Amino acid sequence: NFPPLVFSGVQPTGNLHLGNYLGAIRKFVALQDNNDCMYCVVDLHSITAQLVHEDLPGQIRSIAAAFIASGIDPKAHIIFNQSAVPQHAELAWIFNCVARIGWMNRMTQFKDKAGKDRENASLGLLAYPSLMAADILVYRATHVPVGDDQKQHLELTRDIAMKFNLDYQAHIRKGGKGIDITVGEEPVHAYFPMVEPMIDGPAPRVMSLRDGTKKMSKSDPSDLSRINLVDDAETISRKIRKAKTDPDGLPSEVEGLAGRPEADNLVGIYAALADRTKAEILAEFGGQQFSVFKPALVELAVNVLAPITGEMSRLMGDTSHIDAILRDGGERARARAETTMREVREIIGF
Ligand code: ADP
Ligand code: NA
Repeated sequence: NFPPLVFSGVQPTGNLHLGNYLGAIRKFVALQDNNDCMYCVVDLHSITAQLVHEDLPGQIRSIAAAFIASGIDPKAHIIFNQSAVPQHAELAWIFNCVARIGWMNRMTQFKDKAGKDRENASLGLLAYPSLMAADILVYRATHVPVGDDQKQHLELTRDIAMKFNLDYQAHIRKGGKGIDITVGEEPVHAYFPMVEPMIDGPAPRVMSLRDGTKKMSKSDPSDLSRINLVDDAETISRKIRKAKTDPDGLPSEVEGLAGRPEADNLVGIYAALADRTKAEILAEFGGQQFSVFKPALVELAVNVLAPITGEMSRLMGDTSHIDAILRDGGERARARAETTMREVREIIGF
């Protein structure tokens, strides 16, 4: 089988929030003990919705700072910026020719982000999942820790890998760089692995604090809807105290959270921050009112986030350190990506 490799990316757009932390960055940290990991600031993705944004270099550094402040070791693993490795864009072009327009049109994130005026969305926004597939597969990565919102894109990544593998079977065999795998019952001589999404945990999708049916997002106009990694203790406390709930107290069993998205979300956040299950949290707080639970959640959130916030701002105070890490990570990533691309070009016949 393919040697295990973890890859994931975060866009340098706006402030990182608790959803990004629990859905992605926290998992990155947990995975590094037993895996080879590559964590990417995906700046090429960040221009799909809007070409120009404020202080892109600063935003790129701040994602790298969040990775490091959260505990990722940039020497043992690779932290880098996507545009430093042009092979991502090269493979994305090839994948644009592998993927079908119909596959892209079905992506719910495209529909959400393009809105009503789809004719005016950028072609890049439509092709976004093809670049995401290239980000992962240019390293032939096998495992991708992400939030639940990325599940559909990862299925598409598998579809792209599968079609490439099947269309180029003979050429892959001839090059001698393929690996025999089975997909379902089907034996395939694969150049690209079938990536495994890692979406588990008590809060796979962190929801807005104002509306339990919408995901917590950078693009939500209400700052009260999300906890940002840069928020201070007082701000975190205010946002959690104002978080929407329902009139009932906390149930003692997980089943009691059904149909109560706001309660479910707060319990999920607590469980994820405490690294425990929702059942364990309810065994402790079941029967209590939110007036008891919310202060406990504030204390926990501040305990977890304050050291990260502090370290991020310390790192941002001396950009030369972060820039050196990104430069070194970029060099190491480029070497790996070029190994793949040399083989891909040969498979295709370029
Ligand atoms: P955003 O969706 O806020 O623009 P990105 O697209 O850069 O952020 O996503 C970075 C990572 O954070 C991805 O793995 C994504 O799945 C995860 N993520 C984003 N929002 C949430 C959320 N509300 N809950 C859980 N994970 C999330
Ligand atoms: Na996202």
